[in-house]
Amino acid sequence: MATKTKKTAPAATRTPEAESALKELFIDEMKDIYWAENHLAKALPKMIKGATSDELKQTITDHLEQTKNHVTRLESAFESIGEKAKAVKCLAMEGLLKEAEELLSQTDKGTEVRDVAIISAAQKVEHYEIASYGTLKTLATTLGYSEAADLFAQTLEEEKTADSLLTKVAENYVNEAAMAE
Ligand SMILES: [Fe+2]
Ligand SMILES: [Fe+2]
Repeated sequence: MATKTKKTAPAATRTPEAESALKELFIDEMKDIYWAENHLAKALPKMIKGATSDELKQTITDHLEQTKNHVTRLESAFESIGEKAKAVKCLAMEGLLKEAEELLSQTDKGTEVRDVAIISAAQKVEHYEIASYGTLKTLATTLGYSEAADLFAQTLEEEKTADSLLTKVAENYVNEAAMAE
């Protein structure tokens, strides 16, 4: 969706069949991320509880609040296109969250390696969300749903920021380790 060289046919030249197939894909993607965000909101408290450093706990706590807002924003997006908000199981997020739980069970509480594992799991989740909202924003624009496109753009920015904040927490660990030497 991100390539600029091969553009989707403009709405005027797209057949009604192609238009409705695109719309169906768009709504399916929305249902997928709606499930993903809802489950993430339930999984993040476990990561906060499992985290060692206050900095990581705070970063994930802040993003939990944003995540709850992403759920609400998706509901507004559904409403803006005249669809009922519905969740369909997202196998990718289910897998990412299972992996996160596994990492928590394989690392010891109160250790640096536990935090590094949590950061790794959380960043994989953020990258999935970034890909999803990037696609949704493009599809919404293509289909002429400007209100939904704006909502997805806002969430996309927050996901990108969350990802860079996690990178910063990881870098602080590296710096601290270097200072301790
Ligand atoms: Fe999100
Ligand atoms: Fe996120």
